[in-house]
Amino acid sequence: MKIGIFTDSHYSSRKPITLGRDRSRSLQKIKDAYKVFEKENCDLAICLGDLTDEDDSYEKEVENLLKISVVMKNTSVPTMCVMGNHDAFVFTVDDFYKLLGEEFRPENKTFGDVNLVFIDACYFKSGEHYKPGDEDWRDTFYPHTQELKEHLSSLEGKTYVFMHQNIDPGCDKSHRLANDEEIRNILENCGSVKTVYQGHYHCGHEDVVNSIRYMTQIAMCSNENAYLIEEL
Ligand SMILES: [Fe+2]
Repeated sequence: MKIGIFTDSHYSSRKPITLGRDRSRSLQKIKDAYKVFEKENCDLAICLGDLTDEDDSYEKEVENLLKISVVMKNTSVPTMCVMGNHDAFVFTVDDFYKLLGEEFRPENKTFGDVNLVFIDACYFKSGEHYKPGDEDWRDTFYPHTQELKEHLSSLEGKTYVFMHQNIDPGCDKSHRLANDEEIRNILENCGSVKTVYQGHYHCGHEDVVNSIRYMTQIAMCSNENAYLIEEL
């Protein structure tokens, strides 16, 4: 299957906070990415999180998410959208998908011999999920390790993992889960994981660790044409 991937659009009407984070142009960049995904006949688009960023009011933040929703609903390519820390610091999980569209809530799925597994690491080490108003993005953790182990052991074929935050040891430690090593071990032990796709670390990174490829996609807000098409 062919998938189109993008991440860290950080869409907001606010001016760039740094030279590398031009958030207001991201709506157009998302539209442009979908045009390419359609032309390339992608079976699925996956957003790896931080779709939106903080704006001047909650109303404005809702409006931004709804504008992206219109783009996603008007394309022929189905989408699954993982939440990033910036999304979770503004919206509750339920509000995020209610506004964006329930059809974009990621779900572990198998297509032929390809398994897609989604990990939500918007949790603090305490095991509590991020909520609106929180801001400590460096405290990131995935608590549901037993469920992950059980799910992976039930799969046959090739498995691809999608998450916002990082478990690639080549990414800066501040962007990695507190239990990144534990998650890598779980993925390695199940034997079927081919690639882990991640966002969050805006400059991107790619390497192979113990036979698993870690692909960190560069941020859409700081780069032109920052999307990726992969054949799984
Ligand atoms: Fe992030």
